[in-house]
Amino acid sequence: MTPSAPFVDPWQIHPVQIVEAVPESEGVTTYRLRYCGGGGKADYAFQPGQFNMLYVPGAGEMAISMSGEDRQAEGWLHTVRLAGVVTHAMSRLGVGGVLGMRGPFGKPWPLDNAQGCDVIVVAGGIGLAPLRPALQQLSAQRSAYGRLALLYGARTPSGLLYRNDYATWQDAGWQVELTVDRHEPGWTGRVGVVPQLFDRLRGLNTGRTVVFICGPEVMILFAARAALARGIPPQQIWVSLERHMQCGVGMCGHCQLGPLLLCRDGPVVRYDHAERWLQVEGL
Ligand SMILES: Cc1cc2nc3c(=O)[nH]c(=O)nc-3n(C[C@H](O)[C@H](O)[C@H](O)COP(=O)(O)OP(=O)(O)OC[C@H]3O[C@@H](n4cnc5c(N)ncnc54)[C@H](O)[C@@H]3O)c2cc1C
Ligand code: FES
Repeated sequence: MTPSAPFVDPWQIHPVQIVEAVPESEGVTTYRLRYCGGGGKADYAFQPGQFNMLYVPGAGEMAISMSGEDRQAEGWLHTVRLAGVVTHAMSRLGVGGVLGMRGPFGKPWPLDNAQGCDVIVVAGGIGLAPLRPALQQLSAQRSAYGRLALLYGARTPSGLLYRNDYATWQDAGWQVELTVDRHEPGWTGRVGVVPQLFDRLRGLNTGRTVVFICGPEVMILFAARAALARGIPPQQIWVSLERHMQCGVGMCGHCQLGPLLLCRDGPVVRYDHAERWLQVEGL
């Protein structure tokens, strides 16, 4: 069973302010946002894997996952990669800039259902952003889970996100395995694609292993196949999928993938519920 998302008024746009903008890698920035005029912790509660619709005045609206909590400052984080009009407009706002926010929306990672299980988190590039709150929650509730492993890769070493977090996660008991597509000077780690990192995991207890995957769709497919090839059942594999979103609440149909509306039925879906549709080119 997938946990249900908390109720939100989907049409209410909250003015929020950028209070910090931290460059992560080329074209990728983590923004710390906070309600204008403050707001209680309950006002911005979200579950790992959910997303907000961010509205940049004069540019448009886009779906962006939460990439972390910032409870002390009563805010939350979004990690954004420059893509087109809206992401560039957000980067031009800078610290102090005000934008509109609706949310949180969507189904989260099923962390409660994974209690007692081993958890493998698989991410490619900016796909680590929606998984980071899950990594944080799993670390905070370490004793409720079995073995924890992160398999993460980026195109280049400088494209790896959240490099300061890896040691913290290792201290919390994570096996952290990294890879890059292309070598850069100074990189002494692995070169190869993310699904190959499954080879680093010895002695999997497949019956009680849950896999969470996010990244480019081709990586998701190959990572899921790598998990299946090792005997992990499809019902224990969860993927976060992206399609262009407009309403965020299952009313406009823009985010359709087969019978799924990914804003409402996802973005986190069980792999066997999406696999058939992911094989259809152009869907
Ligand atoms: C649930 C969800 C969560 C997301 N989380 C994040 C996040 O945490 N960080 C982040 O940087 N981005 C995230 N995205 C992607 C983000 O919504 C798009 O990159 C954004 O719409 C780009 O807006 P834009 O106007 O800058 O670019 P656009 O002009 O809309 O797009 C620029 C280029 O990117 C392509 N594109 C746009 N949206 C997508 C998409 N969803 N998937 C693949 N290609 C796309 C377009 O076809 C175009 O070629 C998420 C998307 C979804 C659906
Ligand atoms: S974004 Fe409108 S139905 Fe999903």
